[in-house]
Amino acid sequence: MSHHDRVNFASKLGAVLAVAGSAVGLGNIWRFPYEAGNHGGAAFILVYLGCVFIFGLPIMMAEFTIGRRSKASTGEAFHVLAPHTPWRWVGYLGVLTSFLILGYYSVVSGWTLEYIVQAMTGGFSNKTSADFVNMFTDFSQNPFRPLCYLFVFILLTHLVVVKGVEKGIERFAKLLMPLLFILVVLLAVCSVLLPGAERGIEFLLKPDFSKVTPDVFLSAMGQAFFSLSLGMGCLSTYASYFGKDTRLGRTAMSVGIIDTCVAVLSGLIIFPAAFSVGIQPDAGPSLIFITLPNVFQQAFSGIPFLSFVCSTLFYVLLALAALTSTISLHEVSTVFLHEKFHFTRKKAAYIVSCGSLLIGIVSSLALGIWSSYTIAGMNIFDALDYLTAKIMLPVGGMLTAIFVGWVLKKQILRDEITNYGSLKVSFYPVFVFILKFIAPIGIALIFINELGLLK
Ligand code: PFF
Repeated sequence: MSHHDRVNFASKLGAVLAVAGSAVGLGNIWRFPYEAGNHGGAAFILVYLGCVFIFGLPIMMAEFTIGRRSKASTGEAFHVLAPHTPWRWVGYLGVLTSFLILGYYSVVSGWTLEYIVQAMTGGFSNKTSADFVNMFTDFSQNPFRPLCYLFVFILLTHLVVVKGVEKGIERFAKLLMPLLFILVVLLAVCSVLLPGAERGIEFLLKPDFSKVTPDVFLSAMGQAFFSLSLGMGCLSTYASYFGKDTRLGRTAMSVGIIDTCVAVLSGLIIFPAAFSVGIQPDAGPSLIFITLPNVFQQAFSGIPFLSFVCSTLFYVLLALAALTSTISLHEVSTVFLHEKFHFTRKKAAYIVSCGSLLIGIVSSLALGIWSSYTIAGMNIFDALDYLTAKIMLPVGGMLTAIFVGWVLKKQILRDEITNYGSLKVSFYPVFVFILKFIAPIGIALIFINELGLLK
């Protein structure tokens, strides 16, 4: 396909919602609440907001610039903008990162389907806290059931991606994102109205500045990059479908606001409900797969119908949010194969689906029967998570900032950010300064911290 007959998102709203669909996912509903809970609640949220607006949005605009200017998949974009230079490897790194993440992210996404089934069939009723722990470990370590859900989840992702950008991704995002937002608000309202919910609200919203250590700052920054889908060319791939009149700054701002609102609202679903029934909010996967079913059961024990509705809605919400993210991860590799090797879109999507299914199977079994196979002391699932989220992603983000800040011609950057001079962008000098200095140094710090070199 030549760069000129590429499809675009049909509308600016579609573009915003597709990018927001990529950003809003397990990172917001699962990871954000426990990060906030562990790092001082509102103090973390304030630092997180700073990271989103100071680092996240400029890098998002940098990725948008690369994508829209090159009109190419992320694997090719760097080659188009800086031909015959090693920068193309940054693009390939992005494709590889998103492909690997797709594999293990789909495993957790598949779990949400099991929990929808459990919620709908009364699987949470009359269970003790210990039963919920057993239910989760039995399921996640089972060699068969999680694989079925993994398959279904990748199939759903595949079917949307095969449909293409406008009929698949954009249409799907336009339908799902408003629904998702309504569900989050509804569940948050239910949660804060529970008796004793105030303690959870206080836990999440009352700042405890004594907990703001350098570690909080760096965790918040890591969370911001993961949550905004930065550092792996996902957003540059979506931006390659932006029309000429899409405003990059405004789109980044809208996505940042939507993503942050969903994250904070997710905290407002989880903590007030957990405190209301006297459950200490646990960290990690257990928060949404062990603690939360317990919360739903106890909080609405007198009203089984409400317990059924809220728990079903929550896991549907989680599955939908995960799906719009897996679609974006899938698209990165699919469009790369399609454009680089001239496979049909369908064939490219098949290859990506089969490959990610394989990675997913290995990751899923790594939590059960293959848990004895380890890399650097971690099972394969954890090793993949560590390698991608803690090494490949910060490196990709840092190189993107350096590329746009230092290598890309200034005129190209200005043209893209101002839509060829038709927009007045007062923050432009600050934006360039952040890309050149603050972002690369900031990400380098996250990277060093994650590797434990600061300790
Ligand atoms: N931003 C997604 C989330 O918060 O769950 C995860 C993600 C999706 C990361 C797509 C990276 C990506 F390219």
